[in-house]
Amino acid sequence: MDRVVIFDTTLRDGEQSPGASMSVEQKLEIAVQLGRLGVDVIEAGFPVSSPHQLEGCKLIAKQVRGPTIAALARAVEKDIDSAAESLRDAERPRIHTFLATSPIHMQYKLRKSPEEVLELAVRSVRYARNKVAEVEFSPEDGTRSEIPFLCRVIEKVIDAGARIINVPDTVGYTMPTEFAEFLRAIIEGTPNMDKAVLSVHCHNDLGVAVANSLAAVRAGARQVEVTVNGIGERAGNACLEEFVMALSVRNDLHPYSTGINTKQIWNTSRLVSTTIGFPIPRNKPITGENAFAHESGIHQDGVLKKRETYEIMTPESVGRDSSQLVLGRHSGLHGFRNRLAELGFELSEEELKTAYDQFLVVADRKKEVYDDDLYVIVSHHLGRSADTINLEYFNIISGNVSVPTATVRLTMGEERFEEAATGDGPVDAIFNAIDRALGLTAQLLEYVVQAVTPGRQAMGEVSVSLSIDGRKFVGRGASTDILEASARAYVNAVNRWKTFQAATRTETESDDTV
Ligand code: KIV
Ligand code: ZN
Repeated sequence: MDRVVIFDTTLRDGEQSPGASMSVEQKLEIAVQLGRLGVDVIEAGFPVSSPHQLEGCKLIAKQVRGPTIAALARAVEKDIDSAAESLRDAERPRIHTFLATSPIHMQYKLRKSPEEVLELAVRSVRYARNKVAEVEFSPEDGTRSEIPFLCRVIEKVIDAGARIINVPDTVGYTMPTEFAEFLRAIIEGTPNMDKAVLSVHCHNDLGVAVANSLAAVRAGARQVEVTVNGIGERAGNACLEEFVMALSVRNDLHPYSTGINTKQIWNTSRLVSTTIGFPIPRNKPITGENAFAHESGIHQDGVLKKRETYEIMTPESVGRDSSQLVLGRHSGLHGFRNRLAELGFELSEEELKTAYDQFLVVADRKKEVYDDDLYVIVSHHLGRSADTINLEYFNIISGNVSVPTATVRLTMGEERFEEAATGDGPVDAIFNAIDRALGLTAQLLEYVVQAVTPGRQAMGEVSVSLSIDGRKFVGRGASTDILEASARAYVNAVNRWKTFQAATRTETESDDTV
């Protein structure tokens, strides 16, 4: 069976989703999990864009063994130098360089003629090839480029040493049949195409990124660029788990294999969702809460008689343990550690202790602690290095006849911030008190609260979206008390803003000539 290489760009294109910025430690944690999932290539970031990106790529290159580690670079020497530097410790480094080839991008964005673009592409690939053995070239906005010109560029960059040619549908414009024909025309029109692997990178603006990726594989692509949960610029990228399961379930139509251990899909999807604070929609294919839920009596009856009547894949095949083990206060550290290991978490002794203490708090408040509670406990209470501000204390006075008043105490290292404020309701009062304590002007764009697990003592998870300095930051918090979860979510969003500020403070100015 032909093998399709899975190139994961969750940490690069995925992180470009508004509000999805991650700390370096969070990126490493996800990269380690991507390794467990079995992706072939991890695109770790865009090193020249900021010192934070460079640091993240370096750390992943140094610590993650197994997958190839790729770093993105525009077709300019300083980008390629930075990518090469970030990959110095990688076991298998790859520089991914890109340059737009569509008439609209060349004329208006690059202000370069096609001949200049061709020359620059070749020069950059050659330059990158002198730094690492494996170079990938992407003609940006590939699907809106003219085929004869695209074939010329591809032929020349392959001659210059590119071993992977990635055709991006940068703006998510193409359709499956059209894309397949387009790729076949490229294969036919490029005499040395057999010297490189054809790859695709599809955006989801029209909701067909996975369909386009599948059509591409049928047309001859053997690398597909995807992200966990489909996160990415604008409407996102082709979703890893949907693509992989479509290949697996409909292997009769697409007889290709991947290196993905599908049983790690559920964990990975939860980890990415909780890390960046983007909830997974209930009806999302493969990893949504309802993806395997049968509500109608007719369906339930069918499934009980024969599962396959309404199930085309099993929850177990994507790592969703149908026999969800329930832990309680008496499960002990040993049981807790084992369950986390089964869920794919590898914690240091110190992290385990922090998580266990939090588990005991939760287990005291609610009798049964479910797997989904554990995901929340681990992701909300570990990886705190990004959380420069901590919620130490809050108090609320509220009722249907009094003005809701909140007092909060926040800490940042040795510093303490304490303030009180009133609000339209208790949540508003807490948010006002946090703003006042930190001297912040944040606008609340969205507030969502949901129960993570069943029962009256369910763990509540709050997701907030704030606008600070004209940018959107998402934060999440969890607790059996939704006011505490709200305060934590707000502080988490503020911390993301601080991480973003730190990451971009010295950001390299973008180079308009490329
Ligand atoms: O969408 C795009 O064109 C990209 C390239 C950098 C591959 O992300
Ligand atoms: Zn992209």
